[in-house]
Amino acid sequence: MKKGKKIIVANWKMNPSTTEEAKDIARKAKNELGDKVKTQVVICPPSIFINDIRKIISGEKNISLGAQDVSSDDGKSTTGEIGSEMLYDHDVKYVIVGHSSRRENLETDEIISEKIKTAVKNGITAILCVGEIERNEQGNFYHEVRGQIQKDLSKITKKNLGKIIVAYEPIWAIGKKDTEAMSPHDLHEMNIFIKKTLNDIFGKDGSSVPILYGGSVSKRNAREIFVGGEVSGLLIGRESLKIENFIDLVKEIDSIK
Ligand code: PGA
Repeated sequence: MKKGKKIIVANWKMNPSTTEEAKDIARKAKNELGDKVKTQVVICPPSIFINDIRKIISGEKNISLGAQDVSSDDGKSTTGEIGSEMLYDHDVKYVIVGHSSRRENLETDEIISEKIKTAVKNGITAILCVGEIERNEQGNFYHEVRGQIQKDLSKITKKNLGKIIVAYEPIWAIGKKDTEAMSPHDLHEMNIFIKKTLNDIFGKDGSSVPILYGGSVSKRNAREIFVGGEVSGLLIGRESLKIENFIDLVKEIDSIK
């Protein structure tokens, strides 16, 4: 990915229910965004739809495929898992790792660090999700986010940093009304803190890692969050399935100078 390029990730989670609906959303995204924007759009469908969507967006420079998870097992022996080599073979260029809904289901930092290691080793960019559960006056959330980044990127060297994106997603702001997303001011502070953390770990190379925001972003609040938070991009959940809104959102961000 070109340095400085804006990134918008669509996290479809377990939606939609059918292949036809998934193909329809992907076709609309391709027609409206394909060669019309410079922003890098990453569509992360449920893995069962990856192959169909791959055929639709094949050849599109600014729309890429992402997965929502990858196995930490490089030894090819875990039932029900999908390995990074298989994703790579299906033109998957990105993978979300450590989303809060997976951390909740006992995905530890150790497992997350292994997933990132195998993804990067097989040529896939890892979108590492970090974020505090809640905020309190003591400011422990800074410590929490720093700890996640340190542990989750512990198997990554400076050499591989070009394949890392950090998505800051405060858990308390996910799945809410768009008026309850994080304030651009607070996001800006956290953005600086994450940059500093990456710098402490990797030296000046750390500043090349794009930092995204996710949590109740809609087409209405996207610009304010993107500009005020000074982030490199956004990770969108529910709004990415309302395809007309998502298209507007991407175009809006794309138009920002
Ligand atoms: P949301 O989800 O945009 O629906 O809040 C974001 C996410 O969980 O990644």
